[in-house]
Amino acid sequence: LNPVLLPLEWLLGAWESDQPGEGCFPSIKPFRYIESLNFSHVGQPVINFMFNAFHAETRKPMHRECGFIRMQPGTNRVAFIIAQNSGLVEIEEGELTAQRLELQSRAVARTSFAREPHVQQICRVFQLQPDGKLQQTVSMATDNKPLMQHLHIVYRRAI
Ligand code: HEM
Repeated sequence: LNPVLLPLEWLLGAWESDQPGEGCFPSIKPFRYIESLNFSHVGQPVINFMFNAFHAETRKPMHRECGFIRMQPGTNRVAFIIAQNSGLVEIEEGELTAQRLELQSRAVARTSFAREPHVQQICRVFQLQPDGKLQQTVSMATDNKPLMQHLHIVYRRAI
């Protein structure tokens, strides 16, 4: 592992939702989903990641995102470079404090024909729990709704 990434070593590997995650937003019907996460590296000061979500009952593939994680050497600043299957790309930046990552979108762009409403802002938190499980919470603001929670999910290490 590149030494720049040592502070994020706890994230590496494969994770699977422990219980189905919960999705919500004022404009949609609440839903449940399952998700697997994979964080890997090839020796560069970069983590490669893939998040694949599926319908909790039918297992049909749903939301997918992939990208890269970088750290500013010598600091606790972390950047996620993300592409989503919905046609959205984003840069999220934030800080690592112990085993908690708090990220805010700094740039969001999309395909010209992306479905409305458009996302304007995304905030996410990854937190490693004392029991070794990983929690992710995602909030978003759209054209017509202020920043509110969209996702909450807890993962366990996949074998
Ligand atoms: C709806 C964004 C992750 C499942 C939406 C909407 C937006 C959005 C903008 C439409 C809200 C509205 O109509 O007011 C995002 C972003 C994500 C994300 C930015 C990641 C950062 C996920 C994940 C799932 C998911 C992981 C898991 C399956 C859904 C579902 C709906 C929805 C089921 C409602 C039906 C639909 O509009 O397709 N999302 N989403 N989303 N999202 Fe997400």
